[in-house]
Amino acid sequence: MQKPTASSFVFLSAPVILMSSPKKTPSFAEINLSALKANLRQVRAQIGDCPIVAVVKANAYGHGAEAVSRFLSAQKMGIRMFGVAFFEEGLALRSAGIQDPILVLTGCAPDQMPDMIEHQLTPVVFDLETLQAINAVATKKGSAVKIHLKVDTGMGRLGIAPEKVRAFVQSARACPMIRLEGILTHFAEADLDDLSFAQKQLTTIKNILADLKNEGIAVPFCHLANSAAILHFKPAHLNWVRPGLMLYGYSPLKENNELKLNPIMQVKARIIALKKVSKGTAISYGRTFVTQRESRIATVAIGYADGYPLSLSNCGMMIARGVRVPVAGRVCMDMTMLDVTDAPPLAVGDFVTVIGAEGKISMWADHVARLAKTHPYEILCGIGPRVQRRYIQA
Ligand SMILES: Cc1ncc(COP(=O)(O)O)c(C=O)c1O
Repeated sequence: MQKPTASSFVFLSAPVILMSSPKKTPSFAEINLSALKANLRQVRAQIGDCPIVAVVKANAYGHGAEAVSRFLSAQKMGIRMFGVAFFEEGLALRSAGIQDPILVLTGCAPDQMPDMIEHQLTPVVFDLETLQAINAVATKKGSAVKIHLKVDTGMGRLGIAPEKVRAFVQSARACPMIRLEGILTHFAEADLDDLSFAQKQLTTIKNILADLKNEGIAVPFCHLANSAAILHFKPAHLNWVRPGLMLYGYSPLKENNELKLNPIMQVKARIIALKKVSKGTAISYGRTFVTQRESRIATVAIGYADGYPLSLSNCGMMIARGVRVPVAGRVCMDMTMLDVTDAPPLAVGDFVTVIGAEGKISMWADHVARLAKTHPYEILCGIGPRVQRRYIQA
């Protein structure tokens, strides 16, 4: 397997951006790899020996796909594959030296097929045309290609219709260079308490497997369980699972008392200005916040360009010296103002906690997400490339 060259990238995932010395960096994300390992253990505890496709798409949900994949790969805890969304993400992992199998969940376009084969990325396939095109390119290259077939059992996003699976599989078997390694589908609402639709999706895929078995066709692997299904829908584990969110320390379920997941990323931002202002001072664009008393206002170096959502204007909270402090006024592109009047003394250069905990006071991504009226996935994935990633191990 050759390392792809830099010129072969359309974009790069960038886990570490070296901007300035760590002390002077405007913001940073500290990623605790020991906590990641503890979360992987929690996944293991739910699934027994079942192999794992670790979902590291979207820069490992903002945590840095290369570092996270390298660490997970080294744990030898049953990670069989990494799941990325796009071909370019797979290529970036190869370029970083990751040699484990990589599943490209959105498949591949014709112009990507030669590189996909060259770098042994495994495409998800969901139409006959692509199947045949891959077979043709693989024949030219003289190397067989593993593929996974995606079936749409109710998500309505990617996948062939269940009634077309048999014909697809027969075509795949007729393609000399194609190895059908797996079948997958994706749950639409496995996070709900009411699992009736998830059960329907599971039944559809089980019927497909039974149908193929009757024809004497065994597809080695079948996977559909995301974090939600791993946590509370055991019948869906089948023989592979595909967790994302829970590896990073969050549960997609409303209630989850059963196990202890550890958020693995804390985000900190530096105070770049501090001022005392009199009562009646307006803060930030639109002057939507006006001080009701003499106040201390801190300007911190993180904004919506770094993934701190605009929707947290006047309702977000950060932690300064162990005290929760409110966002004052509109979140800007690169900066956010905090009302730190009730916090202990602070100085320019101090860091505040944007996501994380200081002692018993916490503001994890699920809490931030509630305030921003979104879910933790969006908060985590949104942490931008200017936020320097640092990796620690306890
Ligand atoms: C196809 C697919 N599989 C698995 C996952 C992992 O889901 P989760 O992060 O909820 O575990 C995702 C995430 O969006 C996905 O799109």
